Amino acid sequence: MGKKMRIDKLLSHTGYGTRSEIKKLVKQGKVTVAGKVVKDSGQLVDPELDEVAFDGERVMYREVIYLMMNKPPGVISATEDRRERTVIDLLEPEDQLMDPFPVGRLDKDTVGLLLLTNDGQLAHELLSPRKHVPKTYEAVVQGDVGEEDQTQFKAGVTLDDGYVTMPSDLKILKKDGDEGGVTSVISLTIMEGKFHQVKRMFEAVGKKVVYLKRVSMGPLELDADLEEGTYRELTDEEIALLRAHRAAD
Ligand code: URA
Repeated sequence: MGKKMRIDKLLSHTGYGTRSEIKKLVKQGKVTVAGKVVKDSGQLVDPELDEVAFDGERVMYREVIYLMMNKPPGVISATEDRRERTVIDLLEPEDQLMDPFPVGRLDKDTVGLLLLTNDGQLAHELLSPRKHVPKTYEAVVQGDVGEEDQTQFKAGVTLDDGYVTMPSDLKILKKDGDEGGVTSVISLTIMEGKFHQVKRMFEAVGKKVVYLKRVSMGPLELDADLEEGTYRELTDEEIALLRAHRAAD
């Protein structure tokens, strides 16, 4: 027999809305258990055994997990590797049991926001090249990043394989050093995710990325309280934002 869970949790995990939205829907009598209307969104059900229905339609339960990690350097964003440590190795055993996988890739030396989930459909849609989900990175770049780079990035730059990137938004946050050796701290928002894209874009304008951190992906922002190498579950609101983002495209 499975574990009992609150009916509002079951419904929010299966995509019917946030807990507070569900509370209202339950009050409106939209939810039945074994054919009988329930009005208490805190009622416990066994998602595997009880016949829960929303608007007369059976709610299919699938245990999903959504994790936000601040990826540290030195681990690869894959599920398995014979030699390297992966982001999955950083998860608690009970989270590993749910078989999450990283949504997209960050390079081994890149840090920051990484979403991990076992919701294949959501992952697929976030990664779909047609969706153009914006991703924002902060980077330290060797060289004097200037207005000319901003103009070029806005127009699209040609990568080493001839690919011309979509328009991107380059902001210069800070510059350090002197004429002998300037480093620039920038933020860059790109609408696609080609292999090593940010590094290759700077290479295309003769500069080198020496530190790269992803700070947002679509509506999801890296939680500033997450230390590198740690993670937490997404909140109901964050899950709802991701779903809304997907529906909006
Ligand atoms: N662009 C890169 O070059 N590396 C990453 O990890 C992500 C974006």
